[in-house]
Amino acid sequence: VKVLLMYEARPEHLAALRAAAPRAEFAVATSEASAAAAIAGADAVLGNRWLVQSLPHAKRIRWAQSNSMGVDRVLEAREHLRGVTLTNARGVYDDEMAEHAAALVLALLRGLHLSRDAQNAARWNRRPLRRVARTRVLVLGWGGVGRATARALAALGAKVEGVRRRATGRAADETGFVVWGSSWREALPATDVLLLALPLTELTRRLVGAAELAALPTDAFVVNVGRGGTLDEDALLAALRAGRLGGAALDVFETEPLPPEHALWREPRVLVSPHSARSAEDVPHRWEPLFVENLRRFAAGEALLNVVDQDAGY
Ligand SMILES: NC(=O)c1ccc[n+]([C@@H]2O[C@H](COP(=O)([O-])OP(=O)(O)OC[C@H]3O[C@@H](n4cnc5c(N)ncnc54)[C@H](OP(=O)(O)O)[C@@H]3O)[C@@H](O)[C@H]2O)c1
Repeated sequence: VKVLLMYEARPEHLAALRAAAPRAEFAVATSEASAAAAIAGADAVLGNRWLVQSLPHAKRIRWAQSNSMGVDRVLEAREHLRGVTLTNARGVYDDEMAEHAAALVLALLRGLHLSRDAQNAARWNRRPLRRVARTRVLVLGWGGVGRATARALAALGAKVEGVRRRATGRAADETGFVVWGSSWREALPATDVLLLALPLTELTRRLVGAAELAALPTDAFVVNVGRGGTLDEDALLAALRAGRLGGAALDVFETEPLPPEHALWREPRVLVSPHSARSAEDVPHRWEPLFVENLRRFAAGEALLNVVDQDAGY
């Protein structure tokens, strides 16, 4: 088999890939043009870089391994992915994502964003703050990220429930948390923090809009670490300005980077973090072991890990 790497593999990682598939031939793309040329003869592609741009030139590719967890961008090229197994990096960054999501929740509850504004004005501004203990958190998106975040917040005493697509009614699942299916909106009036950890799909685009925000208590907070497009930003700003929401912490945006003129930058009750729930990392990349194991499976004809349901979009 011929394997195209969309990144420069450090020697130890390349050695592990070779050991996982001793009969494979490896090529490395170093530019968009070289990726487009090399993908024609490739059976498998590892890495995201130039994947979307080069897919139209693929002729025999059977497997593509993304190094990100969300594959909405890759699926924009879905017409070229027919018959191709797409796998993602699900699970690799759950712990880091959960730490960031929990940090955003704590920052909102303890008013750290407002404290920094007061600090900038040298203002000693003491006011009543809320506790995470007994705070009711509804986690929209019950994947690896949502569950890890639920565990982190529950450890601090929060009352957490989840929402997933493939659940019916409202029942405790194997994690011990109560999980809602399509009736999740019933939970909104009793939610203090609505936390979005959703992939961007046809069904989740603007899943949280004016109606959902209006159903929350007027002092509720919204946190988004999934994808920007799952939350209606205009509706969020309108609710904040009308005093119908306590605040929001956003790591992801409909347009990234968030444009300098965007009103979200200037809304005091909004805490902006720049798509850093999964932050940039040095080598070794945390996805390397997953790539090695999946290549071993591919070469051995075994089932791959983290297969994306291309119809569902995640
Ligand atoms: N901010 C960052 O730096 C960053 C970094 C990495 C990833 N992300 C984003 O985080 C997202 C979540 O990652 P993950 O690994 O936890 O994903 P995952 O394991 O694929 O889980 C996705 C969850 O969303 C649920 N879901 C999907 N469509 C839904 C719908 N229409 N209504 C309700 N629930 C729905 C799924 O329900 P089922 O369980 O029923 O399938 C599943 O529980 C990724 O897709 C990515 O976009 C952000």
